[in-house]
Amino acid sequence: MCGIVGYIGARQAAKIVTEGLKRLEYRGYDSFGVATMNTKVTIAKKSGRISDENLNYTDLLGSVGIGHTRWATHGVPNDRNAHPHADCTGRIAVVHNGIIENYAELRRDLIGRGHTFTSDTDTEVIAHLVEEHYSGDLCSAVAETLPLLEGSYAILVIAEGEQRIIAARKASPLVIGVGDREFICASDVTPLIDHTRRVIYLEDGDCADVTRAECLITQYGGPVKRPIEEVDWDIQDARKGGFPHYMLKEIFEQPQVFYNTLHSVREAPDAFSLLSKPGMISIVACGSSFHAGLLYKYLFESYCGMPVRVEIGSEFKYYTPPLSGPVIGITQSGETADTLAALKMAKACGCPTIAVTNVVGSSVTRIADATIYTRAGPEMSVAATKSFMAQLAAGVQIIDCLLNHSLENELERLNFRIEEALMVPVDDAVILCKDAKSIFYIGRGLFYPVALEGALKMKEISYIHAEGYAAGELKHGPFALLSPDTPVVAIATPGRTYPVMISNIKEIKARGAPVIGIGVIGDTQLPELVDIFIALPKSGEVTAIATVSVILQRLAYLTADTLGCDIDKPRNLAKSVTVE
Ligand code: AGP
Repeated sequence: MCGIVGYIGARQAAKIVTEGLKRLEYRGYDSFGVATMNTKVTIAKKSGRISDENLNYTDLLGSVGIGHTRWATHGVPNDRNAHPHADCTGRIAVVHNGIIENYAELRRDLIGRGHTFTSDTDTEVIAHLVEEHYSGDLCSAVAETLPLLEGSYAILVIAEGEQRIIAARKASPLVIGVGDREFICASDVTPLIDHTRRVIYLEDGDCADVTRAECLITQYGGPVKRPIEEVDWDIQDARKGGFPHYMLKEIFEQPQVFYNTLHSVREAPDAFSLLSKPGMISIVACGSSFHAGLLYKYLFESYCGMPVRVEIGSEFKYYTPPLSGPVIGITQSGETADTLAALKMAKACGCPTIAVTNVVGSSVTRIADATIYTRAGPEMSVAATKSFMAQLAAGVQIIDCLLNHSLENELERLNFRIEEALMVPVDDAVILCKDAKSIFYIGRGLFYPVALEGALKMKEISYIHAEGYAAGELKHGPFALLSPDTPVVAIATPGRTYPVMISNIKEIKARGAPVIGIGVIGDTQLPELVDIFIALPKSGEVTAIATVSVILQRLAYLTADTLGCDIDKPRNLAKSVTVE
């Protein structure tokens, strides 16, 4: 997820574009760049956070300009891979948010036609394709290029001698701010609400030819009219897309994140070859990533019969278990000191190492022999939600590939099931949890790590003590803590452990603790037994992991919100723990 901005009008574009990019840094901040068109196209780009010092505005003249702030997906963050990208002549410049899935074959074909590439990005193919079709009319050159692109894109294109910006979108957001003889194109309304509150929302397949006088839109080639709408948000709201907190915004991004990650993991053949190396797979991680690692253990062992051990990153360095096979380090940020130290240790022991991370170019990618990227985009809220979902997507995609796609049918529709889980009411459970002294989360098998993650979310943001347990473990001690003030969240979706979960719930009820039961629509037994029944649509086991996780994220979020907690920046925590 990157941020793009374009300006055409009477004012100098570079500053307006750069200020707009600063508003979009929450979408990505590992490199940035601006291109303006005066008599010719001038590009300035740099790795790192946006800072005026790195831009020489005296060079960047012209009242037509585009810019980009990056969240790397293809090609590590550096000056070369920063956007804008140009064609061979340097006369055409492109900025892009999204992923061109067929870029590798387009690139091969263009190199075969004599094009020279200067970056490792998927985006650069767009500049060369426009060049291929350019014969003096930028709009038709872009229109001929779009059908060749597979994947998602929001792009802005400018060219030498052309007093226009071509803006096009498919599956990535793009809006156009309508000013007085000026237009501002952007990934969302944050860059433009200081200039205008009149906005056009482009739809998939739209391509807009934006000049100072007008904005002409076609959809898949046919002319269309898009309404100009009035925006009444302030900056903070806009950054959160109208959500009150980044965490809730990120929870609602999970259907797309699951889909994107599912489709990108197939691009990591080197990691797959390491995974097929003999020996026990070891996973090292911390916090939510550790819970994802535990999920991998249950999934790999139950679906592929591959032995897996999972180690807490901070323990691994000092109590390194005997290692034989590949070692996987799971880390959203790619910078968690304990996980990095563990992977370095594994490498020193001669083990093949694989990173599963959300940040291209992060330290872990430089330690590991191979990297699998999750596609969650930047996660602003300290509490991991969409990154955990993306780690799950990566894990089940690996298994599906190892099982010759026997899970494909379920996985391809899973993002829709997540959408449904976002709408399941949990209010009664929130009322029970907000006054709780302690909350226990229980599950069995695959739902044990899900219970651990649910408890961590509640702890992190509501400050209510919460513990996740393998359901059978409760009677070996924690039962002593049960009381009417200690609600128990019990995950009892259909499967081989359902009957024993029912008896565990009866044991808990017998000791006076209220139970919130998470099950499926049509279950006749569980609703009778529990105090609050949360019903999800029936689904496969893998789908249930994702949908139950969404329910537990929302339970924690709504409880913390009811208690007025600082949800995005909980006390005493950091998004990335870079010290041991
Ligand atoms: C989870 O909500 C927390 N932010 C924390 O436990 C986190 O998962 C842990 O610090 C690991 O971070 P990483 O995935 O970036 O390595």
